[in-house]
Amino acid sequence: MGILDKHKAIETHATLLMVLSLLVVTIGGIVQIVPLFYLENTIEKVDGMRPYTPLELAGRDIYIREGCYNCHSQMIRPMRDEVERYGHYSLAAESMYDHPFQWGSKRTGPDLARVGGRYSDEWHVDHLTYARGVVPESVMPPYGFLANAVIDGKYIEDVMATHRMVGVPYTDAMVENGLADMTAQADPLGDSSGVEERYGADAFGTAVNVRNFDGKPELTEMDALIAYLQVLGTMVDFSTFTPVANR
Ligand code: HEC
Repeated sequence: MGILDKHKAIETHATLLMVLSLLVVTIGGIVQIVPLFYLENTIEKVDGMRPYTPLELAGRDIYIREGCYNCHSQMIRPMRDEVERYGHYSLAAESMYDHPFQWGSKRTGPDLARVGGRYSDEWHVDHLTYARGVVPESVMPPYGFLANAVIDGKYIEDVMATHRMVGVPYTDAMVENGLADMTAQADPLGDSSGVEERYGADAFGTAVNVRNFDGKPELTEMDALIAYLQVLGTMVDFSTFTPVANR
């Protein structure tokens, strides 16, 4: 009996129950939260992760501006159905240069965390222009106007400097060459050695996609958005990746 009787005393006194519950929650909270203040970083370092190139970063801003996150998540959960459909579950490191992160909270359309390289650029142009032309049952709105929206890129270096303030490791050279790198990535006939040297395989182990993404001569918002979509989920090489816990 003994201990059960005492428990009854707690359960029949609302105030006592509340005070003791609060005490338990407080102790639990302290035990969980306080250690985090003493850790330099809670994100496991993963090879291949690099900051977005200026063109990808501009595309990401268009993704946010157009509200793509209202219908698409970028967060594959470690559950079997998701992993089989979308690929390896998302790692914390994969959104460490995302400010703000694009995990989303609703999937009207599929998760996009690993859509990079899954379709051709032409497919994306067609699909973004008129989704039902490609997937007849789609409810995705048309974004064809992006192909006519020419980018002058005059703000891109400021945008990069702002991301640097919140922890993205853009170097001075990256920021100073922001506009040049943005143009170069979408111009396969130009000199792309700068953008490749700063963001490419030698620097981070991940190649930079250099090509004319929308097929038009001008640098457009369509180029930027597709450059962004095509890099999603492609930075980490999962054929060689092992989580720290399994090493
Ligand atoms: C109203 C909801 C809605 C919005 C907003 C929306 N989409 Fe979609 N999207 C969908 C649906 C539904 C599908 C699945 C059918 C299809 O492929 O069109 C889809 C499919 C996609 C796919 C193909 C994914 C795959 O794995 O097959 C991509 C890429 C995509 N959307 C990108 C975007 C981008 C970029 C934006 C913003 C410019 C956007 N979507 C805005 C609903 C939406």
